[in-house]
Amino acid sequence: MDFQWYPGHMTKAKRMMQENMKLIDIMIELVDARIPLSSRNPDVDQLAAGKYRLILLNKSDMADERVTAQWEEYFKSKGFFVAKTNSKAGKGVKATQNIIMEACKEKLERDKKRGIKNRPIRAMIAGIPNVGKSTFINSLVGRACTKTGNKPGVTKGKQWIKLNKNIELLDTPGILWPKFEDQMVGLRLALIGSIRDEILNQDEMALELICYLKEHYPSILSDRYDVEESEDKVKILESIAINRNCKLKGDELDYTKASKILLEEFRNGKLGKISLEIPEVEEA
Ligand code: G4P
Repeated sequence: MDFQWYPGHMTKAKRMMQENMKLIDIMIELVDARIPLSSRNPDVDQLAAGKYRLILLNKSDMADERVTAQWEEYFKSKGFFVAKTNSKAGKGVKATQNIIMEACKEKLERDKKRGIKNRPIRAMIAGIPNVGKSTFINSLVGRACTKTGNKPGVTKGKQWIKLNKNIELLDTPGILWPKFEDQMVGLRLALIGSIRDEILNQDEMALELICYLKEHYPSILSDRYDVEESEDKVKILESIAINRNCKLKGDELDYTKASKILLEEFRNGKLGKISLEIPEVEEA
């Protein structure tokens, strides 16, 4: 498995984020709730040093609620404010405004002490591609937004979206890049469909998914495809091919078709709410 993110692209995205960092109080980072670590680039911690931080576990409608609750605790224990959202359905989205205020409480109190009134909190949304940044912004802003760009004192070209009298949002999200140093990161991103399928071998991906589901979500495979989960992964894929009548000419089984069906049904949520990453319990 070999992934490349254009270095030029990466440098440009990073520079833009660095420039914008000066303008904001709080960094709102979106991650995919099914793979919260694999869908973030930890370099953002350096980039956003000194800023208030909010992590949104987006697409929480597709993740295992029990595991998502563990992730909430995990990020809180690292000092982040955390919320879970389903931007597609607008769930938890508006409530983030209160969390933003809560996260920036210190700054608001400082402003108050200094007699500074009505200085809005400025926020930036960031995340790797496909985590739902645009969907979240659209859901948050709705139609009632007012753009407040090009006023004196506002950096030229920067557009701020006024969410309410207290919060303004930079209208272009910061783009982070995935961190592919660990092969599993690429695999997880591909499994949820955030990396183009052609890059990875479908059969290999399906076999990896089978192993993971067998271990962490017993009976999902047997219920849906009538397979015997105690069998090895290749045998299970074979049974899925039989169950779904995936055949090549001459009645030979079509493993690739069976793999595609499994991956597609996983991504469409037909296998249920599944998280592919579970936080490691840190020794006390
Ligand atoms: P980006 O800006 O970070 O690149 O992501 P974008 O908003 O384009 O969202 C990527 C895909 O994820 C979209 O699906 C979007 O609908 C979906 N999405 C975003 N947030 C959520 C969420 O909370 N839950 C679920 N289930 N899906 C979410 P798409 O397949 O590209 O388009 P479509 O299916 O909406 O037509």
